[in-house]
Amino acid sequence: MRAGDGAATLRMHQQEEETDMRITWLGHSAVHLELAGKSIAIDPFWTGNPKFPQGYEERVQRIDAIVVTHGHDDHFGDTVRLAKKYGATVIGQWEICMEAANAGVEKIQPMNTGGCIEVEGVRYAMVPAFHSSATLRDGGLFTRGDPAGFVILGEGRSVYHAGDTCLFSDMALVHRLYRPQIGFLPVGDRFTMGPEQAAIACNEFLHLDLVVPIHWGTFDLLHGDPHEFARQVTRGRVHIATPGESFTA
Ligand code: NI
Ligand code: MN
Repeated sequence: MRAGDGAATLRMHQQEEETDMRITWLGHSAVHLELAGKSIAIDPFWTGNPKFPQGYEERVQRIDAIVVTHGHDDHFGDTVRLAKKYGATVIGQWEICMEAANAGVEKIQPMNTGGCIEVEGVRYAMVPAFHSSATLRDGGLFTRGDPAGFVILGEGRSVYHAGDTCLFSDMALVHRLYRPQIGFLPVGDRFTMGPEQAAIACNEFLHLDLVVPIHWGTFDLLHGDPHEFARQVTRGRVHIATPGESFTA
């Protein structure tokens, strides 16, 4: 599936107990998810993200939760600023939550890999990712815990955001444990999976209904081509999103 096919074709596998969720990709790994009545920002790299849709923040009235996969600044991004502005709960590794709290964020939900928590009717499961998670500070490296992926579950829907990661066969466990229907997978290569690895993740391990490639095209360094990814995926549909375009699934 290519961008522009329209929202209607993205409605799939709906059962009565399921409700639509609204998805907006904001460029890079930033996703705005509206699920189970909650407004959820994942990896909110909004300021300084060259693909962030201009004027989008002005249209966001509420953010209830901010999910941070790891501590690199292209993911941690505007976490502290947005959490304070909207009174949102920060969900992430213990180290990320402590940093947010030290910076004045009032609501945090620290967790670690393998854990699953429920916050205001939405469940958040932290799953592994193979990557790193430190940031530069005062001329040295400052840890922000381990990298992770998340599965977000509510109202019969299950959404996997892989964070930054290589391909790993325990993605089969993510499928077995949480049955995600929709996935956001990095395809940009160099720092994460490239198109071929991400396609293997879909074809052999995750069994998603719909997958949105992320972490591509933001910077010249990310050379992985989402169209190559789409060509290689044989299981599930690929939607190459445009930043700021909202669609339901
Ligand atoms: Ni990273
Ligand atoms: Mn990254």
